[in-house]
Amino acid sequence: MSLFSKRAPKPASNNHGEAAEGVMAATQTTLASGDDDPKPDLPEVEPEPLFTTTGGYKPPPEFAAVRRKVQQHLVNDMKAPARALNPTELRREILPVFNEALLEANLAVSRNERELMMNLIMDDILGYGPIQPLLNRDDINEVMVNGPNRVYVEYQGRLMLTDVKFADDDHVMRVIERIVAPLGRRIDESSPMVDARLPDGSRVNAIIPPLSLVGPCITIRKFKKTPLTIDDLIANGSLTPEFAQFIEAAVVARLNIIVSGGTGSGKTTLLNVLSSYIPSDERIITIEDAAELQLNQDHVVRLEARPPNIEGKGAVTIRDLVINSLRMRPDRIVVGEVRGGEALDMLQAMNTGHDGSITTAHSNSPRDTLSRIETMTLMAGMDLPLRAIRQQIASAIDLIVHVERLRDGSRRVVQCSEVLGMEGDMIVMQDIFVFKQTGIDDKGRVIGRLEPTGLRPRAIDRIEAAGLHLPPNVFGAAGYTTSWKG
Ligand SMILES: Nc1ncnc2c1ncn2[C@@H]1O[C@H](COP(=O)(O)OP(=O)(O)OP(=O)(O)O)[C@@H](O)[C@H]1O
Ligand SMILES: [Mg+2]
Repeated sequence: MSLFSKRAPKPASNNHGEAAEGVMAATQTTLASGDDDPKPDLPEVEPEPLFTTTGGYKPPPEFAAVRRKVQQHLVNDMKAPARALNPTELRREILPVFNEALLEANLAVSRNERELMMNLIMDDILGYGPIQPLLNRDDINEVMVNGPNRVYVEYQGRLMLTDVKFADDDHVMRVIERIVAPLGRRIDESSPMVDARLPDGSRVNAIIPPLSLVGPCITIRKFKKTPLTIDDLIANGSLTPEFAQFIEAAVVARLNIIVSGGTGSGKTTLLNVLSSYIPSDERIITIEDAAELQLNQDHVVRLEARPPNIEGKGAVTIRDLVINSLRMRPDRIVVGEVRGGEALDMLQAMNTGHDGSITTAHSNSPRDTLSRIETMTLMAGMDLPLRAIRQQIASAIDLIVHVERLRDGSRRVVQCSEVLGMEGDMIVMQDIFVFKQTGIDDKGRVIGRLEPTGLRPRAIDRIEAAGLHLPPNVFGAAGYTTSWKG
């Protein structure tokens, strides 16, 4: 039985041509738990797509039969699997069947439209269906499929509805299967959520009915082939040259740094940039859920956590990897994101000679980062008194760099705070840089700059002890040169 036959009924008002594409309506059975309590049909408002690509070409209803015929040919009549062919061979193989199917369907189409239809079929066979053209574009950061008819992208920092559509829920499900099957993962009613990666490294999450009420959903964070560099971040205003000088010195001088921020605020991107400052004669161990970091140093050991298998066994957590990495003679430990008990192991590592570690954490502000790390440390289950935890945090962490995705979609460093120590039961911090917004331009873009607060970081002593000399104007003091080169 197909995986898809048990999904929740599609809203009756779904009117984007699926009936004509046709196959689903007949085979669909309803989900037991949903039978007595059907979800109310929400009025379908058809929003205007803001982002159009040729991938959004909407073929006529007869195209469904053409597609089916070509697919049947591939399944029934070919000796080698279609995916073993290169695109030119595949095109040659399917062209006669495609032409014949067009005739049968009585479709007279322009040469351009033929080409678009052919591309759709090719993308179904070799790629990830209608979203393939979006994945091919380097200027799209994220692709979000909310059921077959709503495909969004993040383009230039903004969320936009595209004109890309799938034929129906089944079509989305086939793409999800294509993504997860090669990884030995599965998605169905008993495990309706899955994290995966595309062969190019892009991060994927899929969630399907009955958990998703809008049809199968896919979220893809595109992997940047050429990661953003510090120069890119300076050029696009994410941070300033002064901050760049400071943070480079901080990394080289082995300060322990946490990059914090909300979802998609640019934490991993900044972590990658900071890690690139680690001198190349140091042994770096990176630990991630899904390997996203791209370091250029030679001596890098990349570790990736593993989810449990289908029987729920065999998981290797970030925490397991952090503990293991301590036995691997690391000079630096870079952890993609701390979310749980590994925070305690990281703090202990930072406090016991593995300084210069860098990680990210999800939070709303530097102060919030501290309290979240406190909570994560408790998740390690060690039953430590709060004061002891705070002391560990205060002595382990040197800097918190907070990033934010602003209202205009731009990602910026908005605060950089130094952790000074404890006063009574409280951890004391001071801000070294703070983003000051001065206005909004006529295109809605935020105008502002990451300004030094004028406070000289205490860690400057460690930076100088490492032989690095920062001009005082980095911190807002006037009258010195900017000739320092890292
Ligand atoms: N400073 C920046 N300027 C422009 N684009 C950026 C910047 N930082 C990140 N991006 C883009 O924003 C997207 C999200 O970035 P990133 O993965 O670093 O965020 P994150 O905070 O780690 O997200 P998550 O919480 O999902 O892990 C990526 O596509 C990335 O290329
Ligand atoms: Mg991240």
